Amino acid sequence: MAEPNKSATLSIGDKTYALPIHSPSLGPDVIDIRKLYGEADVFTYDPGFTSTAACESAITYIDGDKGELLYRGYPIEQLAEKSHYLEVCYLLLYGELPTEAQMRDFESRVTRHTMVHEQMHYFFRGFRRDAHPMATMVGVVGAMSAFYHDSTDINDPWQREVAAIRMIAKLPTIAAMAYKYSIGQPFVYPKNSLDYAGNFLHMCFAVPCEDYVVNPILSKAMDRIMTLHADHEQNASTSTVRLAGSSGANPFACIAAGIACLWGPAHGGANQACLEMLREIGTVDRIPEYVAKAKDKNSGFRLMGFGHRVYKNFDPRAKVMKESADEVLDLLGVHNNPLLQVAKELERIALEDEYFISKKLYPNVDFYSGIILEAMGFPTSMFTPIFALSRTVGWISQWKEMIADPTQKIGRPRQLYIGPKQRDYIDLTKR
Ligand code: CMC
Repeated sequence: MAEPNKSATLSIGDKTYALPIHSPSLGPDVIDIRKLYGEADVFTYDPGFTSTAACESAITYIDGDKGELLYRGYPIEQLAEKSHYLEVCYLLLYGELPTEAQMRDFESRVTRHTMVHEQMHYFFRGFRRDAHPMATMVGVVGAMSAFYHDSTDINDPWQREVAAIRMIAKLPTIAAMAYKYSIGQPFVYPKNSLDYAGNFLHMCFAVPCEDYVVNPILSKAMDRIMTLHADHEQNASTSTVRLAGSSGANPFACIAAGIACLWGPAHGGANQACLEMLREIGTVDRIPEYVAKAKDKNSGFRLMGFGHRVYKNFDPRAKVMKESADEVLDLLGVHNNPLLQVAKELERIALEDEYFISKKLYPNVDFYSGIILEAMGFPTSMFTPIFALSRTVGWISQWKEMIADPTQKIGRPRQLYIGPKQRDYIDLTKR
């Protein structure tokens, strides 16, 4: 961290405290309050971390007002158009775009790790068939530390690297297995002659009794979904991975924690919730009723796939995803799909509505990704697992960055206590 050259002054009563200010390479200045409690005996209060930077990071940058997302400095639009998911994985993990030789080596390392331990098949069989694939994934990814205990020593850089490659390689296999298991079909082994996205489609949709040919437009769209979801700065699941990792937990346990957090409907679960909402709305004439409900504070209802904590202009991922959705729907000829008509009309109405304009609520990435995945033939329960497998590289990159940071400490937030003051225990018979 560069030496701060500015400071802020905090006055509490008749005392003043100088707080150093750090200037990042991009984004707002950051007031350093690390010594505040020790010097002034006060905490800061910021539930939801709306004004708090919890770490230093050189991986991903978001400017919510400009609608800008950079992976290692490269705009997401350029990466979505010119790069591909595995190259983006390399970039996120190692900081630079690979040379041709580095790319070949990375691809071969990932490809050689796509199979899972055969014993894992039995582990899957312990789950109920109707389990949500996210529930299965949380369990199976957590259990990877039992299957791959030779890469759980976080103090060994080589083991950290092996764990990273294993997770990037195996998460699609695990997600596809969770899907196959839920529909009662046999597991399909990875096919290493296919690219990363094509292999995932193959493992989800192939069956042993027929040939399955991956459609290149669909595999490109899948690759793009993965690229757009690969990392997103210190969001809830990434912060969960970092917090879990800060205690020294093994990487598989940390990623399982990230998957659990991602599942929530305010985060990665929004893609499933959005499609279910579109289905519930059903027809275009019912949209005004749902828009009115979303505006009514007492209803507790939100338009899923709208709004973002950081993007207050537009979600740059949503822009790219929308183009991809048009391509896929053209290819599949499903423009008259009633769900899609509801989605398009909802988007139009919400973008013109004063409530959504004033609160800067725009369709987010999940609004469009669900439409593409539905058109590809995925059930809604697979939307969040696809988000999870795509985000795995981001979680691992952030986890590796944290472990390598010498200033890293166990994450331990404090609180504003509002419970009872100390009181004496009263015997049960006297209460
Ligand atoms: N529909 C209706 N009203 C909304 C919505 C929505 N989707 N989102 C926010 N608002 C309102 C909210 O009621 C509040 O109103 P007021 O100022 O009158 O109290 C205001 O907008 C600000 O909302 P907030 O909850 O304080 O904002 P936040 O930054 O904490 O929440 C969010 C961000 C994404 C959780 C929220 O917009 C939301 O719940 N959206 C729906 C779920 C969703 O699509 N999530 C996916 C996010 S993108 C994928 C990812 O990165 O995980």
